[in-house]
Amino acid sequence: MHCEYYMVLVLFVYNAAVASPSRPCVKRHDCQIFLGVKSMCTRNSQCACKAFHHLHMGLCVKNRDLHDMCEHDHQCYCGADCEDKIACIGRNCTCRPGHKPYRIRRCIFFI
Ligand SMILES: *[C@@H]1O[C@H](CO)[C@@H](O)[C@H](O)[C@H]1NC(C)=O
Repeated sequence: MHCEYYMVLVLFVYNAAVASPSRPCVKRHDCQIFLGVKSMCTRNSQCACKAFHHLHMGLCVKNRDLHDMCEHDHQCYCGADCEDKIACIGRNCTCRPGHKPYRIRRCIFFI
C-alpha cells in the first residue's frame, strides 16, 4: 500500500469523532441512542463514530471522500479542519470555490 495512503488511514482511525458533550459507555449499544447506528464505544469508554464516519448534527455519517459521489454537502468529508472547504457540487464531492485539492483527499485554501 502507498505509504501516504497508509498514514492517512492511521490518522482517520486515531481521530475518531467523539461525541460532544462526551458520552460514557460500556458497550456499542449504549451509544446508538446518541450517535445513531454508525457509532461505537471506544477503548476509553467514550461514544464515538466508527472509523470512516464523521458527526453531522449529532449523528455519525459515512465519509464520502473528495471526488466520491454525493447527494448532500454534509456527506463530503476531508478531515475535521477541512469541513468548510468541501461541498457536494454536481453530485461529486468537490473543493469549494477558492479551494483546491491537496494530496489525495484534502482541500486547501487557494490564494
Ligand atoms: C468527480 O470529479 C472528478 C474531477 O473532475 C473526477 O475525476 C471524478 O471521477 C468525479 N467523480 C464522480 C463520482 O463522478
